[in-house]
Amino acid sequence: MIQGKISRISGPVVRARGMEGIKIRDLVQVGDLGLLGEVIEVKGEEISIQVYEETDGLTVGEPVKSDGRPFLAQLGPGLLGMTYDGIQRPLEILRDLTGNFIARGATGDPLAKNKKWHFIPTVKVGDSVSYGDIIGWVQESPTIKHYVMIPESVSGVIAQIKEGDYTIEEAVGLLKDGVPLKMVQSWPIRRPRPAQRKVPTSLPLVSGQRIFDVFFPVPKGGNAIIPGPFGSGKTVMQQSLAKWSDADIVVYIGCGERGNEMTEVLTEFPHLEDPRTGAPLMNRTILVANTSNMPVAARETSIYTGITLAEYYRDMGYDVALFADSTSRWAEALREISGRLGEMPGEEGYPPYLASRVAEFYERSGRVICMGRGTPEGVKPSDSREGSVTVIGAVSPPGGDFSEPVTQNSLRIAGAFWGLDARLAYSRHFPAINWLTSYSLYLDALRDWYVSELSEEFLTMRTELMEILQKEDEMNKIVQLVGKESLSDPDKLLLDVARTVRDDFLRQSAFHEIEAYCPPKKAFYMMKAITTFYAQCQSLLGKMPYSDVLKLPGWEKISKMRYFPNDNFEVQCEAALKELAQEGVVQSA
Ligand SMILES: Nc1ncnc2c1ncn2[C@@H]1O[C@H](COP(=O)(O)OP(=O)(O)O)[C@@H](O)[C@H]1O
Ligand SMILES: [Mg+2]
Repeated sequence: MIQGKISRISGPVVRARGMEGIKIRDLVQVGDLGLLGEVIEVKGEEISIQVYEETDGLTVGEPVKSDGRPFLAQLGPGLLGMTYDGIQRPLEILRDLTGNFIARGATGDPLAKNKKWHFIPTVKVGDSVSYGDIIGWVQESPTIKHYVMIPESVSGVIAQIKEGDYTIEEAVGLLKDGVPLKMVQSWPIRRPRPAQRKVPTSLPLVSGQRIFDVFFPVPKGGNAIIPGPFGSGKTVMQQSLAKWSDADIVVYIGCGERGNEMTEVLTEFPHLEDPRTGAPLMNRTILVANTSNMPVAARETSIYTGITLAEYYRDMGYDVALFADSTSRWAEALREISGRLGEMPGEEGYPPYLASRVAEFYERSGRVICMGRGTPEGVKPSDSREGSVTVIGAVSPPGGDFSEPVTQNSLRIAGAFWGLDARLAYSRHFPAINWLTSYSLYLDALRDWYVSELSEEFLTMRTELMEILQKEDEMNKIVQLVGKESLSDPDKLLLDVARTVRDDFLRQSAFHEIEAYCPPKKAFYMMKAITTFYAQCQSLLGKMPYSDVLKLPGWEKISKMRYFPNDNFEVQCEAALKELAQEGVVQSA
């Protein structure tokens, strides 16, 4: 045990002396209350500590203690369904213990210590095991099996292993050299969990949001950023993705946003159902909450705690989606702490290492061959398994100015950019994603999936719709000069079809019972309807006045497709397509 005394206090940063042997990133307990903190600088005799809790009332001379280890996340069964703060203290349990407010210095076990889990081994006595090998599983939630893996520094030959009911700290087995095998392990959150290697991403994270699934997809293992000004829909978007995307596991980090936004998540999520399994969504979800009224240092940590939990489930062979709302508030925490340390500020007061921290965070996403052997099925222990972490970060640039450092540094790394637009939000076009400035660099990687799951046509129609919107943008400039009346009929038609693409296809309410989730196949039908109808209308131009083309029933038919029930949309869509394909024939006959 290393023990010293507080020498200076500056908000969340506390200096201490007499801590010989302490290292950067070691966990410390500060003051008589034992507030938790992390060493962020060692300078001669004096160290600087980032304290995760309010430091009011601390005084110089109070004790500082450490056992010389970094902050470790606890990993094991029981994580799913939990809500943690930035240093993995369970919020609900703490609330029960200390009242609605978390008392300073309060601790709570991240994982229930007395709960028994039914462990089923997948290896047998005499098997040799090493880091990452699956040795068995427990049913963590009704839909998720939790695979128990050998921790990093352990290897040997199994001497004992038995099915039965165990707490996370009881040994489920023993190695020949006497090392006990437990279901819980720990990990220093700032160190990425290793994998054998990264592999190319080739499957989309299907989100049920047309703007993403069709226009700007992100693969499982990819990363995306959602920058946008206040009120443009970042939180609603992230929550829709957390609810509907086809990840196995969701980690949702509420980082520095207003408390009431997080309360919405905390109260709403437990009641939501997984559209695929019908089970509560919390069964596959972990929440990490550090709202704006909670201490700034723990907010900085929440990002790392969250991604470590995500990597842990990835290592079991799962596809994990991680959401961070908002990475800007995290960067601001970094800036505040750096300022307290008296570091030389870089652009807009952010520390010069902002760029590398942002990059390190997003680089923890990816699709990997996991460490160790054993598939999630536990059938052939010699098999390797794949898992992925997809990272989706909201960015809230002050005043919506995308040229500021956090947005710029995130842009440099992100594979998909979903730019929210204040003007679209203002005109109630939701999701308010700007289709002209947004992009996804993953389309080529996902091409095979689109072709095999939907069809080649899907990609050509996607291009066609994109071109319609780009032409509309160019034409709008002309219209502003000369007025709409002077346009040719084909140009008028293009503008009206573009409006249909925007209003009836890209718009999607997050709050409508059916609309909230659109299966990709349904999006495919909608695209097909629009392109078919467009071709029909083109063939009618010159044969009838444009005002009559505008009166065709097809326009309205298309606008209703989004509300076709998701359980039998195919029948209705096929019928609608047949009618649309007839319009040109009927009218010109
Ligand atoms: N996809 C959507 N569908 C319907 N309404 C939306 C959608 N996205 C945003 N909104 C509306 O915009 C408001 C602000 O969105 P929010 O996500 O809280 O913004 P931000 O997090 O960017 O500040 C929401 O309360 C909601 O009324
Ligand atoms: Mg928000």
